[in-house]
Amino acid sequence: MKKDFLESRFMGRFRPLFVSWFITDKCNMHCLKCGRGRGGLGHAEAPVIDRVIEEAAANKVWRINLTGGEPLLHPALGDIIERLNHAGVRVSVSSNGLLVPEKLDALAGAAGISLSLDGGSETHDAARGPGSFESVLAALAALREYGIPAKITSVISRHTGENDIEDVVKTAAEYGAPVSFQPLLAVQLGTSDPNPDAPDPQVFRALINHVIELKEKFPRAILNSVKGLRHLMRWPDDAPITCGAGRFFCQIDPAGNLFACGSSQGTEAPCGNILQTGLMAPFEQKRKSCTECSQCWCGERVEANLMFGLDPHALINYFRTRHGYD
Ligand SMILES: C[S@@+](CC[C@H](N)C(=O)[O-])C[C@H]1O[C@@H](n2cnc3c(N)ncnc32)[C@H](O)[C@@H]1O
Ligand code: SF4
Ligand code: SF4
Repeated sequence: MKKDFLESRFMGRFRPLFVSWFITDKCNMHCLKCGRGRGGLGHAEAPVIDRVIEEAAANKVWRINLTGGEPLLHPALGDIIERLNHAGVRVSVSSNGLLVPEKLDALAGAAGISLSLDGGSETHDAARGPGSFESVLAALAALREYGIPAKITSVISRHTGENDIEDVVKTAAEYGAPVSFQPLLAVQLGTSDPNPDAPDPQVFRALINHVIELKEKFPRAILNSVKGLRHLMRWPDDAPITCGAGRFFCQIDPAGNLFACGSSQGTEAPCGNILQTGLMAPFEQKRKSCTECSQCWCGERVEANLMFGLDPHALINYFRTRHGYD
């Protein structure tokens, strides 16, 4: 993996080391901010599943993150994880947490689960529905008991206050599930529809400043590096960054459509379809075109890109915050 990464970084031998695959766009929540969980594409079906597993094995993919929609709704989730593991691919899963306690056996082969937590109980429930905060705590407790590493993704919206940031960091520290913060985008995910819940940029910057202060006290509970947080502070202005999309990661949708980056899904044409082109289309396209975007705001993608750019602060932070998930 180290050799593949270095070859991609220095010799232009771009390879799919990390793949984000949204295996369904069906969802059991209806968060206003998100255009993903609307169900138009449905669940990934057998021909796409078989081809993704085959291609992942052939291209020595290092890790696939199963996401959605809500991936725990996919009836073949356990089977997909088991087959990917058998093909030598590590698997992680991103979930809203609702179904985690009843799907632990299906999740047993996952290297880690990322749960969404968007604030303290009031703010999280307002964003995601009554009772959803308690479901995340129940999911974190169940994962801890079952021995599956967990982490948290937290989006900062117009409704987030300093108390929410503190509550999320304390939950992260208490459950040993470090958190990655990111802004709620001005568009609903996977669409160009405006998002009225996006934060005010000045308020967002003050909140990220507070995360930087908390990072001193809880260095391992916050996954973002200080460098990454400073990058996020530039949201929503243009902020160029070294880009790993189509160089060492890419995205697949339930129909097998390929995108260099998750942020282009739903707004740009796919680079190909895995059933026709195999997995390499985004990597071949990136080799031909060097166009970059300057709107990189997903907390984890920012860290991955800083590391791809060999940023020493991000690399040190990565090794300090590693906790069995990666
Ligand atoms: C699309 S969800 C899929 C996994 C799962 N259903 C969940 O909610 O965690 C993945 C992540 O995208 C985040 N997200 C959704 N809409 C967003 C937006 N408009 N801006 C930024 N993040 C968003 C969610 O909060 C979640 O952390
Ligand atoms: S953020 Fe996750 S839980 Fe909410 S609607 Fe989107 S996919 Fe579903
Ligand atoms: S959001 Fe833009 S800069 Fe970030 S990984 Fe995707 S394409 Fe690259």
